[in-house]
Amino acid sequence: LGPRLQGSNLYFIGMMGSGKSAVGDVIARRMGTYNFLDTDEIIEKAAGMSIPDIFKSEGEEAFREAEAQILDSVHAYVRCVVSTGGGIVCRMQNWSKLQTGIVVYLQVEPEVIMKRIEGTDRPLLQTENPLETMKNLMEERKDKYQQADITIEITADMNEDDVADAVVKEI
Ligand code: S3P
Repeated sequence: LGPRLQGSNLYFIGMMGSGKSAVGDVIARRMGTYNFLDTDEIIEKAAGMSIPDIFKSEGEEAFREAEAQILDSVHAYVRCVVSTGGGIVCRMQNWSKLQTGIVVYLQVEPEVIMKRIEGTDRPLLQTENPLETMKNLMEERKDKYQQADITIEITADMNEDDVADAVVKEI
């Protein structure tokens, strides 16, 4: 398992609700010697606030700054499976860190994502038409996500173990 990785980190990128954290956790367990980290979770713990509250009180720019700083610290570790926030791909400087490991994009159709995140608080989707906003965000980020080393196409019937199986085949 993981000959391509050779001890370096595995980064999951993709939209909110694509399953980066759930799949990352499964993979880290399967690898045994890897630790699982989630950049959103690290930011929330450091700030003592939820992400929606950080967006509300500090604004998106401050969140993006914190996200870049966390990635900077995390990329210095080895043997980590890292789940990143959906927007981490937008800053060019973050790519120099992501590319020190293997980057996996979990690609999911917007309609499937909307079903999965129903009932959760997502600051970027507080709009009149969240599906439309989701589609626009995906369109804006498409080229960036496609810079990943590995892309896994996820269908509505796949659970995290199925996705983990597909990832493991590639690493
Ligand atoms: C964001 C995705 C969220 C979180 C923040 C912004 C985005 O993370 O970082 O709400 O810009 O797509 P998840 O992708 O882990 O939900």
